[in-house]
Amino acid sequence: MSTIEVTGGISLQGEIEIQGSKNAVLPILAACLLGEGVCVIENCPRIKDVSDTLEIMRGLGCRIRREDRTVSVDASGVDRCEISGEEAARIRSSILFLGALLGRMKKAVLPLPGGCAIGERPIDQHIAALRQLGARFYLEEKVAADAWDLKGGRVELALPSVGATENAILASVLAPGETLIVRAAREPEIDELCAFLRRRGARIRRTAGGDIRIVGVKRLGSACYRMRPDRIVAGTYLLAATATRGQIFVKDFPHHELDALLAVLRDMGVTVGYEENGIRLMAKMPLRALPYLETAPYPGFPTDLQSPLMAVLCRARGESCICETIFENRFRTVDQLQKMGAKIRTDGRCAVMKGIPALIPASLTAPDLRGGAALVIAALQANGSSVIRNTRYIERGYEDICRDLSALGARITYRG
Ligand code: UD1
Repeated sequence: MSTIEVTGGISLQGEIEIQGSKNAVLPILAACLLGEGVCVIENCPRIKDVSDTLEIMRGLGCRIRREDRTVSVDASGVDRCEISGEEAARIRSSILFLGALLGRMKKAVLPLPGGCAIGERPIDQHIAALRQLGARFYLEEKVAADAWDLKGGRVELALPSVGATENAILASVLAPGETLIVRAAREPEIDELCAFLRRRGARIRRTAGGDIRIVGVKRLGSACYRMRPDRIVAGTYLLAATATRGQIFVKDFPHHELDALLAVLRDMGVTVGYEENGIRLMAKMPLRALPYLETAPYPGFPTDLQSPLMAVLCRARGESCICETIFENRFRTVDQLQKMGAKIRTDGRCAVMKGIPALIPASLTAPDLRGGAALVIAALQANGSSVIRNTRYIERGYEDICRDLSALGARITYRG
């Protein structure tokens, strides 16, 4: 089994470029199924979730070429509408093929989606949204649906689910008539999907109130699209630098997407801000605890950065409290951090941390993708050598966390 070995105690310094966004590229790849043109995606991250997604697309009949970070997808030969269990079970985002296949083939059959074990992750909102567009579902062991007369309409989400918003978009861009997605998720990755579809000729925009309005078009054309940097990976490295009292510059990062994290870092005493070409961070002082923080849908504090932040707060002065409002099972890192001496107790959806001066190195197991990244951050702070197992989770979302952190001076090695 592959492991990551970290010798902690070194302050991170330097400049870093961030890989393309995972959560944006996955729906964009699904959107390549719509229409017949060839789509070229640049700066596509080389991560496991992308290779698994491309495998699913090949299985559906797409011709795919991948050279380094450029992926071209020719979907003209798509002739299947069923995704088999093993492929889809590996990644949660396989559920996005539901909307894309209904838009393209009018029929979709997929197993219930897999992914990180961070909670129940129901798909009722996806189903409700697609039903509102005319899809009919036959739910047994699989998710099967057809939509012979998909039509634009009003889609009311009960909660702003990212995946359900994306599925509603994917199903409606080619459906005749006008669609309004009410309570659409506001995550920047949704706007990136819209920008990609617009480039292919879709008529789609976000209204001033945050809903998404789509006017169905008859066809979508070819497009070349460059992925923007991944805000969660950038956030992870800003937190790693904070944890080690480092100084880093995250290059070419767009303004505003990390406002919630930057505000939290400032509350902890970190000097951080946007510059013209990126984000500069200096974390020289002892960190202050955070009396209370809740995760929330964008523009709130992202649930994906909750575990990495927890790994930093273990050593902040005073008592911190984090409440996880999105996924109920996101405290699976706690027992691993406790192995390193962290003083954390959980009470339902909240975790309370009492800052301690130092963490001790340990042998650890990554519980999920972001929890794995959190353990790397914890290990960077512990004087001595820690080992992290289950690195396959981390590889789902980080191209090469060892390469990136080594470039900032960390002593971190991947052992395959
Ligand atoms: C996406 C991101 C994930 C991020 C999450 C929240 C991708 C590939 N993944 O996941 O990294 O953590 O957004 O920002 O983009 N829910 C329901 N019913 C549904 C759908 C969702 O109750 O049908 C609930 C979920 O259980 C959860 C909340 O809604 O509590 C948010 O989930 P959602 O926004 O759908 O997250 P994902 O799209 O799965």
